[in-house]
Amino acid sequence: MANYSLNINGEAMTVSAPEDMPLLWVLRDILGLTGSKFGCGVAQCRACTVLLDGVEMVSCQLAISDVGKAKIITIEGLTAMREPEQGTTAVVHAIQETWISEDVPQCGYCQPGQILTTYALLKRNPRPSDQDIDEAMRGNICRCGTYNRIRKSVHKAAKYMQKGEEQ
Ligand code: FES
Ligand code: FES
Repeated sequence: MANYSLNINGEAMTVSAPEDMPLLWVLRDILGLTGSKFGCGVAQCRACTVLLDGVEMVSCQLAISDVGKAKIITIEGLTAMREPEQGTTAVVHAIQETWISEDVPQCGYCQPGQILTTYALLKRNPRPSDQDIDEAMRGNICRCGTYNRIRKSVHKAAKYMQKGEEQ
């Protein structure tokens, strides 16, 4: 066991955990942040996706001792995030709007991972092509088959963001 200082959703937290405990376990079982889902546990579904310094990661495969000082964002923190950098809130808002209007979630289990991956994609590429979307999202498995809705929503969110830029 060791103590780890973490930055999760903008808050400093300290947890005591075995060094090989995956971040997903820390989030769900120690901190009660159950938005990140356990799907396969072997890096095959991405239901457990979180952002580490803005980059999507599978938290079931990341030992707590390897997190270091990275800023962790989970689905719980995404909507509350108010980073000073321009456009952050606009991206979150665009995703929320289009996920609702396209009725994307079905059972919802994969959606935290889908949404965080979409957020990371739109932050680095605000105008993704079909191919860009498929490449970014291909590891995110949805047993309800929401792939077409997700692709449509990502395009719609990108357009929504562009409109915001023009205002
Ligand atoms: S639970 Fe982590 S990739 Fe499936
Ligand atoms: S919405 Fe059910 S698994 Fe994706």
